[in-house]
Amino acid sequence: MTGDLILQTKNLGKQYKRRWAVHHLDLEVHRGDVFGFLGPNGAGKSTTIRMLLSLIRPTEGEVFLFNYSLAREREKALRSIGGIVEKPDFYLYLSAFRNLEIVGSLNGGAEKKRIEEVLELVGLSARARDKVKTYSHGMKQRLGIAQSLLSDPEFVILDEPTSGLDPQGMKEIRDLIRHLASDRQKTVMLSSHLLNEVEMVATRMAVINRGELVTQGDVGALLEKGEKVVTFRGQPAEKLLSILSSRIGAEKVTLKGDDLLVSMPFEDIPAITRILVAEGIDIQAIIPRRSLEEYFLSITESDSK
Ligand SMILES: Nc1ncnc2c1ncn2[C@@H]1O[C@H](COP(=O)(O)OP(=O)(O)OP(=O)(O)O)[C@@H](O)[C@H]1O
Ligand SMILES: [Mg+2]
Repeated sequence: MTGDLILQTKNLGKQYKRRWAVHHLDLEVHRGDVFGFLGPNGAGKSTTIRMLLSLIRPTEGEVFLFNYSLAREREKALRSIGGIVEKPDFYLYLSAFRNLEIVGSLNGGAEKKRIEEVLELVGLSARARDKVKTYSHGMKQRLGIAQSLLSDPEFVILDEPTSGLDPQGMKEIRDLIRHLASDRQKTVMLSSHLLNEVEMVATRMAVINRGELVTQGDVGALLEKGEKVVTFRGQPAEKLLSILSSRIGAEKVTLKGDDLLVSMPFEDIPAITRILVAEGIDIQAIIPRRSLEEYFLSITESDSK
């Protein structure tokens, strides 16, 4: 199994002043994974990725890439890694092509052919000679991905590659990531603060909150495991509460603002809906969620306040 491990972090931590931005983090990324690194704003995603790319030094713990210790065998560990953290910086008055030439020259030079290949791969060929300042946000994101692919790394780490994009732009990046994983045999790690985005593209994922690992594993298995929670919203609210409590069990019902959250199997939704309608409840919403979704929503909401 260990030969298959592309990334392993052991008790990884980064402290700023007295706060731990990342703490006790154990991650495992295997060859062929599209690994989603999910967490709300400020969770520690970029800090972790900076440590993986050796842009900052961990306060404690260790990073292993391709079984090489990043602290002791830095060059070997980083040999087949490409990545971008947050918004990549470009020379706005130069073309995409020229920007990649400069990035390449910092790493021993990139052939013209390779630059053209990566620009083609991310769909920027037609605009390759235009100044980056004329690019849309989505085009700049794609140029960042092109930059991370320049040395043809086996492991690509992308920090929020879809942030700030519209749904079409997000889909294009997802398609590109799938293409990299399935047709180009890359292992990809991408961070995001959106569960559904990770769910759409990732095979495995880790969730972090306030710098600490919440869970990690197979995406499908994590989403299916645990309870199913259904949110009910309707009027009159007291009557809705009393029907749900008596039919499903008071211990299964919790109040959240105007909503009632009920732990119940999704298969029971049609039957309970018929009862509510027959009892004269005006139903405004019935929202089924898996527990990880519910959990993730709750940490995202509490952190944005
Ligand atoms: N250079 C720094 N000095 C002090 N604190 C920092 C520094 N960089 C990050 N932090 C803190 O570390 C925590 C994690 O930040 P980080 O940028 O890693 O989160 P993130 O998950 O990438 O968030 P976002 O989704 O907003 O990009 C935050 O509390 C942040 O304020
Ligand atoms: Mg970040």
